[in-house]
Amino acid sequence: MSRQKKWRFATWSEPSRGFPYWGLQGIAGSASDPAGNPRILEPTVNEAPSAKWLIRISEVFADLEQEILQHLGAASLRKLGRGYSLIQLANPAAIRDSEAAKFVQWNLPVHHSWPCSPRDIPGFIEKAAQAMFRKFGARNPQAIIVGPFDPGAADRYYRTLASNLRGRTLQLFPPQVAAIRDAEAQDSRAPTLFCLIGKEGLFCGLQSPQASNGWHAGGTKFIRQSGPDTISRAGAKIAEALHHLQLTRRPPPPGSHWLELGASPGGMTAELLARGYRVTAVDRAPLDPRLANAHGLQTVLADAATFQPAKHVVYDAILSDMNGAALESITRVIRLARHLRNNGLVVFTLKLPGAATFAAANETEASVVKSATAAGLRVIARTHLTYNRHEFTLFFESAPSA
Ligand SMILES: C[S@@+](CC[C@H](N)C(=O)[O-])C[C@H]1O[C@@H](n2cnc3c(N)ncnc32)[C@H](O)[C@@H]1O
Repeated sequence: MSRQKKWRFATWSEPSRGFPYWGLQGIAGSASDPAGNPRILEPTVNEAPSAKWLIRISEVFADLEQEILQHLGAASLRKLGRGYSLIQLANPAAIRDSEAAKFVQWNLPVHHSWPCSPRDIPGFIEKAAQAMFRKFGARNPQAIIVGPFDPGAADRYYRTLASNLRGRTLQLFPPQVAAIRDAEAQDSRAPTLFCLIGKEGLFCGLQSPQASNGWHAGGTKFIRQSGPDTISRAGAKIAEALHHLQLTRRPPPPGSHWLELGASPGGMTAELLARGYRVTAVDRAPLDPRLANAHGLQTVLADAATFQPAKHVVYDAILSDMNGAALESITRVIRLARHLRNNGLVVFTLKLPGAATFAAANETEASVVKSATAAGLRVIARTHLTYNRHEFTLFFESAPSA
């Protein structure tokens, strides 16, 4: 091994040696000092608080990415998979507090990485699993969730690798870590060991699902968007929104009454009904005939601006997916929120068709939130779902009456 050779180091353990081993990949420093003694080499592992973060920004906002990174105070280090960036972050709070936060679909502090081509590493799974156990075994993650950077790839190699790596890693951790089989069964506020894997290598970190903004590694839950019975692709959006909501609070129980504004053709309506909810669906356009006579459904062919529920009606939740100007839509919701019960839920699709810039999107969102807040609706979460296009999903709760 030449002393002149440059090395980059990533951590993994070599099980047969029984001690930590720093894998060699090429930059900075030599493997021995001038006297020929082995050097203690710095790994590319970050201890919390991490300066390196993995973030996911939807391709929908690809044009705004530079501005988003700038507002996060982040320097881009590398693109990973589809939509992921490895960034250096001076102020991690920006991931949650800055104007750019809502554009970041999912985030993870990188506490351990192994940049490599897993396909070319013999025994990759065993080496990676041992390294994860050595690094995180004493830190009591509630669960280990491993996913591929590109879950939609036609080549299933990394999906299978992720699943096998998770399986082997769980064998090393205490049995309770394997007890969580459904991602939604995690405690949203307890740390999980998330790990993403792809042709660029393996990137792991310990963070709660709530702080990461999703239950899965990468945040995406697979929800079928189209099938023979699908009425519209919007159905996947409310399914994902209700999944996401559980990071913050429980969704309304079955039997709850939803007022849905902008319901036609009815993809979301069908999803709500399938969950055992009652729905009053309002739209100027009719619903898909497949929903005719659906149990629990009342349809109202009307403009949301003029629709007037009977005085005594109280809704548990309001869903708005109306297109058109966002401020007009929130005004319709606010008027009807008089019929929302205390601590009732509002799921609002904030459409941004005319807001092509970062500043315009923020301005629209800020004015919608301002109007809603003034009317007693408190923002409990906001995100860009994987099934959102040029829009965000905002969640509000009505304030309890004094
Ligand atoms: C994106 S589509 C909704 C798709 C629907 N959520 C689904 O799941 O299939 C928007 C709908 O909002 C309706 N809309 C827009 N403004 C409205 C208003 N003021 N009153 C009633 N419906 C409205 C449109 O007629 C249109 O059907």
